[in-house]
This record gives sequence, C-alpha cells and structure tokens, in this order.
Amino acid sequence: MNIVLSGIRPTGNLHLGNYFGAVKNFVKMQEENQCFFFIADYHSLTTHPTPADLHGNVKQVLVEYLAAGLDPEKATLYVQSDVPEIAELYLFLNMNAYLGELERVTTFKEKARKQPDNVNAGLLTYPSLMAADILIHRSHQVPVGKDQEQHLEMSRTFARRFNRMYDVEYFPIPQAYNFGADLVKIPGLDGSGKMGKSEGEGNAIFLIDDAKTIRKKVMKAVTDTGPTALNQAKPDMIENLFSLLKVVSTPEAVQYFDDQYNQCTIRYGDLKKQLAEDMIVFTEPIRQRILDLAADEAYISKVARMGAEKARESAAKTIREVREIIGFRHF
Ligand code: TRP
Repeated sequence: MNIVLSGIRPTGNLHLGNYFGAVKNFVKMQEENQCFFFIADYHSLTTHPTPADLHGNVKQVLVEYLAAGLDPEKATLYVQSDVPEIAELYLFLNMNAYLGELERVTTFKEKARKQPDNVNAGLLTYPSLMAADILIHRSHQVPVGKDQEQHLEMSRTFARRFNRMYDVEYFPIPQAYNFGADLVKIPGLDGSGKMGKSEGEGNAIFLIDDAKTIRKKVMKAVTDTGPTALNQAKPDMIENLFSLLKVVSTPEAVQYFDDQYNQCTIRYGDLKKQLAEDMIVFTEPIRQRILDLAADEAYISKVARMGAEKARESAAKTIREVREIIGFRHF
C-alpha cells in the first residue's frame, strides 16, 4: 500500500478554498492509502512564535482538520514536535545538504528578501527538515501545491544522495501526489481569483465563520453593473460567484441564475443571498463540530497521543535502520 504524507502549516483557519482543495482530497486519500498527516510546528519556529500562540495555533489546526473529516482511526494524524526522531533525521540530512543548493531555493530567497533581519539557519535548512518529514516514514507520495514542488525536488535529491552515499536502496524517492481533476479551484470574493487568507479581508469564507459573517462577506463581493446583451460572456468576477454557487448550491439554483444572467434579468443581490444561505447550510455542521471539538480537551489530547504513538513507531524504525546504515552501531 502506498505511503502518502502531507504536512500542514499551523497558521490560520481553514477556508472553503482549503476545504475543496486539499482537505477534501485528504479525506478521500485516507480511505485508500496509508496516510500520515502532521502539523508542522517545528517548521513554524522559523518565525519565532510566542509559546501561547504556537500551542493555540496547533490546537486550532488539529481541531479544524478533524472537523473537516480527517479520521484519526484511518490516517496517522500527529503533531511534528511529538516525534523527535524527525529532528534526528534532519540532523543527519543536514550533514549532506550544501549551502549553495539551500541558498538557491526560491522560498528561501524570497523570505530572506522579505525579512532580512531574521534569516536564520532554520529558514535555510527548511528543505532538509521537510525531507526529514517525508523520509522518516519512507513515504512514496506527497500531495503538494505548486509552491512546494521545489522543496519536494530537494527531498528527492537528499533521498538519492543518502542512498548513493551508503550504497543502499533505503529511501524510496518521493513522488508528487497529483489530485488531477479532483482539485477544484475556489475563487475568492474580491474578484481577484483565488480564495486565500492573505488576499485581504473578506476574500475568504472560513469554516468557522458564523451566519452573520458569511452574509456580510458575500453581500460585499465584487460585481459589475450587470449584463447588457443576451447570452453575454461573464466577466471573471461574475464567473467566480457562479463557481462558488456550483460548490455549495443545487444545480437548479445555478441554472436559474445562469438563465437570469443570459436574459439580462439577473439581480446580483438575489444571487448573493442564495449563495450566502447555501454557504451557511454547508459550513454550519463543520462549524459546530469545530466548536464541539475545541471544547473537548480530553478527546483532542487522546487524538494527539494516539497519533504520536503511531508516528513514533514508524519513525523509530527508520531511525534505527538509518543509524545502522550510517555506522552508529552498538558496542
Ligand atoms: N512546507 C509545507 C507548506 O508550507 C508544509 C510541510 C512541511 C510539508 N513539511 C512537509 C508538506 C512535508 C509536505 C510534506 O505548506
């Protein structure tokens, strides 16, 4: 069975774009593969969070992914820092990671430019930590977005380098897991294309947003003055609203507004009302689960402990074997 692994940055709340993008696919993947999903809290230290923020963010992310459908019985769901074996593998990999190649990584160059007073070694060696995340379970596949392709390529380089150096075929070379047609792109509400937390206030609908917040955001969505000719092509911002309608509303509702648009009788206010109400219906049960889970300290702690135990079992085996290969042997 394929071993699939993905890391989740503990920053920000899940929005509909995340949900219909990666998360829904994770939920599906866990049925057919041996999945490892972890919260990348070691990685987040590069930005020097306060202890309270760090802990709070990790908990919120865990809660929201559980609420969205990750199943701790099916997948191994864990917090990265609960698995110190990852840090040990990171150390080993760093011994064969070269300054030149690390400095050439696009994300590093970008971060170094944006935060010149915090260009720390963790930032530089982000790719070796990510490789350790992946290789610690000898993963075969990693679902990654465009922005992570170069990191995954580095993981392949480090895996090959280790295998070559010790003349073993120990680490599988991790491949990108391609969602293909399953990846639905969700536009934001500001007309600019993608739903994202950094795109500006009101662009994203979060799973924890209450009805009032959703109504307010949707009613503020950008539109034009309306079609002036029959069957006119839709400008992007209007197409975006229809794309959103398609994921949360019924086909009949989509058809209705499409006809109205084509006949130039559409009232965007009505479309937005429908969209907001359908988003509320869609997100409400998830939101309720988030609130319930966040209040259930005992359950969250059980999930984290169970995940850590399963992840450490797999990680400890790899570290044992890697130590043996490297030559750290017991006397
Ligand atoms: N770098 C990833 C991101 O920014 C998160 C991540 C950390 C990750 N370790 C990973 C993803 C290992 C996949 C595999 O989103």
